[in-house]
Amino acid sequence: MATTAQFEHEMLREIYEQPEALRRTIELYLAADRLKPDFAARLAAWSSPEGEILIAASGSSRHSGLYAEILLEDLCGLAVDVEYASEYSCRGGSGDQRHPSVLVLSQSGETSDTLASLEEARRRGQKTLAITNAVASTMAHEADVSMPLAAGVERAVPATKSFTCQLAALYLLALYEGAQLGRIEVAELAAHVARLHAIAAALEAQLDGWHEQTARLAQNYRDAATFLYLGRGIHYAIAREGALKLKEASYVHAEGYPSGELKHGPNALVSERVPLVVLATVDHALDASVMRYEKTLQLLRDLKAQGARVIALANSGDAEVGALSSDCIRVEAASEYLLPLLEVVPLQLFAYFMALRHGVDVDRPRNLSKAVVEK
Ligand code: G6P
Repeated sequence: MATTAQFEHEMLREIYEQPEALRRTIELYLAADRLKPDFAARLAAWSSPEGEILIAASGSSRHSGLYAEILLEDLCGLAVDVEYASEYSCRGGSGDQRHPSVLVLSQSGETSDTLASLEEARRRGQKTLAITNAVASTMAHEADVSMPLAAGVERAVPATKSFTCQLAALYLLALYEGAQLGRIEVAELAAHVARLHAIAAALEAQLDGWHEQTARLAQNYRDAATFLYLGRGIHYAIAREGALKLKEASYVHAEGYPSGELKHGPNALVSERVPLVVLATVDHALDASVMRYEKTLQLLRDLKAQGARVIALANSGDAEVGALSSDCIRVEAASEYLLPLLEVVPLQLFAYFMALRHGVDVDRPRNLSKAVVEK
């Protein structure tokens, strides 16, 4: 395990703080492995079983929104739209009747476009929920319901621990909604909670291995001009986040795509200097996950035949993905909807080490700013 002295940068420290940050965040909302009644009562004031949910956010927080969209739709049967806050806040029009409930996601709780979306939603009479890492932030104050995270202050501009804590909070939100709507039975709820609890320890156990491997990968891939990150279903959100992390931290161009879109244009870019990062994990207990995985295997076969350089993320022990990729980052098995909390961490580390290789001040990348709130 890395010691405090080994953390040359805030970003690396914050990556390593994730297991603790997750534990603290989960504890805010669970007591004796059940959702705390006051949490449930607060959420009841926000959600509406009839209507659709609108999520507005920026940057990494918007990628958490993409995660929440799949989670709330698949687990709870809700309809969800995810908007860029900068677009939603400028839409104008006569109103938004479709979405009685609006969720804003923001690490800082101060990002101006997201705050403007919250204010617009309030003006339209929509019920608002703010998930922020700053309990005293403007968004937390202004929203009808505030759901704070306990990631601790995040100083590096590239979001890391606030992102995984957002995913955990969204998972808890989905458990509440699923239970309310009768989509998740009591026994199932307990199993979900146990799986969520297990994620912090799983992360802790894998951090050092990912650290070593991604440092090597950054050395091997340092000359790449562009990376294409691919993911399907809920993993698409992580492909987007992995690509954003790389851009923000190392100034290396990267884009995240749904895996199936590769062949509709971006594949023309693939070359020795344009490698791919392919999310190829699987939850064997879920048919839809297995179906996505099999499609991803076929894509990996095609990419191998094409001579592409591929870094894959795959389950530990998955020899097939290992044989089809140039390099393979291993992730311990987890359920489909919790795999993203694991997958994103080696991608954060890869972005960190690429930043070091490129001599970038990873905590303060050029032209970006972060609204850190310390109250
Ligand atoms: C800035 C940062 C991004 C961040 C975004 C949203 O643009 O550069 O890394 O994701 O703000 O920040 P928020 O505090 O609203 O989550």
